[in-house]
Amino acid sequence: MKVESQGHVDTADTMRVVNWCTRSDISPLRYPGGKRKLAPLIADLISKTNIRPALFVEPFAGGASVSISLLEADYVDTIALSDADPLLSSFWEIVFSSQAEALANMVYDAKVSLDEWKRLKQTEVATGLEAAYKCLFLNRTSFSGSLNRKAGPIGGMSQAGAYKIGCRFNQSKLAERILELSRLRHRVRFVRNESYTKTVRDVRKTAVYRDSPNRVFWYLDPPFFAKADKLYRCHFERKDHQTLARAIENIPGSWLLSYDDHPEARRLYGRHPGYALVNLQYSARIDEKNRLVAKEIVVSDIISELRAAGKLQDGAQVIQIPRRRQNAPANIEVVERNIAIG
Ligand SMILES: C[S@@+](CC[C@H](N)C(=O)[O-])C[C@H]1O[C@@H](n2cnc3c(N)ncnc32)[C@H](O)[C@@H]1O
Repeated sequence: MKVESQGHVDTADTMRVVNWCTRSDISPLRYPGGKRKLAPLIADLISKTNIRPALFVEPFAGGASVSISLLEADYVDTIALSDADPLLSSFWEIVFSSQAEALANMVYDAKVSLDEWKRLKQTEVATGLEAAYKCLFLNRTSFSGSLNRKAGPIGGMSQAGAYKIGCRFNQSKLAERILELSRLRHRVRFVRNESYTKTVRDVRKTAVYRDSPNRVFWYLDPPFFAKADKLYRCHFERKDHQTLARAIENIPGSWLLSYDDHPEARRLYGRHPGYALVNLQYSARIDEKNRLVAKEIVVSDIISELRAAGKLQDGAQVIQIPRRRQNAPANIEVVERNIAIG
């Protein structure tokens, strides 16, 4: 990636991304570890390169909220999504296909009950449409949005608590959102069920990469280090994280990787020149003095280039985002560069 000019934060463009990513319904999926709050940071880094991505690839798609935020804000020309979990990839495939209306109708007409939850939990799906419906239904009715085999229903098997199985399944809103997203399908290059290694090989062969490699951008958000086996149906073993750390340098295009702040992630990436520990500061207060702060590790070739060019100061705010709503990201800053590696 070549940083072509100093660039500047184009507040209007970045605000478009902020406006999208502060929508809690940006993705129909409630995804554990959903990263929509990183979208403004990614938009800001991209704007500093002055290169608009022709293709934005998210190979660990999950809830895909970053790709969707940037696409809806018209920050990128097209997106491509893939995920190793066939339920998730089927969901996105159907949303961005001519079958979106059929899915929206199924969601609108769904009988949201414990019986339906149990039926879907046991069902082997025969078609992509059934898989997409199963994905959304179980995601919105299971504890923490987890599709994991062991995840139970919201409200438990007794449905005795205040929150019942249907409390996060607003049928008309979800159906509408599916239809809204499906209108963007001409800007979705592909949705695939495959491992990220295959997606890397596939993108390398595309005309867009061959013609303008610097206009391909990757957002990589691999499974967490902690508890990933409980959250996702496809997770990483330790060696998989190490393999990704080696593969990242050969990604075809520009890239940003994010991880939950975990000692293993610091160990793997803490010395990378594109490493930054980012504070996602929320407007919600914990008490009188403290605001809720979530730390996220990001690594990006753009950060490396900006640092090398003296255009990114550690400790300085990368982007300031006006507080639009309660719980919207208030500001995002790079807080640390080199950290002690234990
Ligand atoms: C942390 S989640 C991604 C969350 C997403 N960024 C969001 O905002 O919702 C990681 C995803 O990686 C997928 N995954 C696990 N192993 C994979 C692999 N080898 N290749 C591609 N996807 C994989 C999981 O199914 C999961 O959906």
